[in-house]
Amino acid sequence: MIPGHMQISPSVLSADFTKLAAELESLNSIGCKLLHLDIMDGLYVPNLTFGPLIVQAIRKLTDMELEAHLMITNPDQYIERFIQAGADLILVHPSTCPSLPKTLSQIRDLGAKSGLVINPDESLELALPYLEQIDQLLIMSVYPGFGGQKFIPEVLDDLPKHLEQIQQNGVTVELDGGVNLATLPGLLDTGIRRFVAGSAVFNRAGSPAHNYTQLTNLLG
Ligand code: DX5
Ligand code: ZN
Repeated sequence: MIPGHMQISPSVLSADFTKLAAELESLNSIGCKLLHLDIMDGLYVPNLTFGPLIVQAIRKLTDMELEAHLMITNPDQYIERFIQAGADLILVHPSTCPSLPKTLSQIRDLGAKSGLVINPDESLELALPYLEQIDQLLIMSVYPGFGGQKFIPEVLDDLPKHLEQIQQNGVTVELDGGVNLATLPGLLDTGIRRFVAGSAVFNRAGSPAHNYTQLTNLLG
């Protein structure tokens, strides 16, 4: 990957799972190398998705980098299973981890990349003590739980203040929620390198490959 290269990370949350194999194949064939997997347990967020079994099935379908965004109450108990299932990067919400340093070490010790997720009502400063222990910082631009929500621009207010420190530690900044053809152009100068896009990639208006291409064309 070219350093500093920007990428779209399609979230399968909005995908038609009956066509997943074909859609991942077509995304991969046009250069998509990254996939976002939203894991929800119905407790940390009021929605349920899927667990390691489906991650394992997706792993068999593609060699894209798999980001597992864990929106679950007890991630420590399941991290190993998600990594065994094929997740390359594990993203955890700090409030779900009784000992965050331990959780982050566990992720790296098991051979995966680690990341922290900051919710819209949490401060970016929460992540600063852990920059040496993470590969990625995921900023939520919607409240976690559902696809297709409206982008909250204020979540980026504090990013300029901390961006240099974050980048000096080699941490990739990613944004999740409400990224689409209308909001993406305004986000290109923020230092964010990865943009999760669920409903903007998987929708009825166009094929995922077509929608993905339209988004990546904006990245220049
Ligand atoms: C929300 C998820 C997001 C979601 C984004 O809890 O973390 O990854 O899929 O969906 P869109 O792109 O539709 O806002
Ligand atoms: Zn997500």
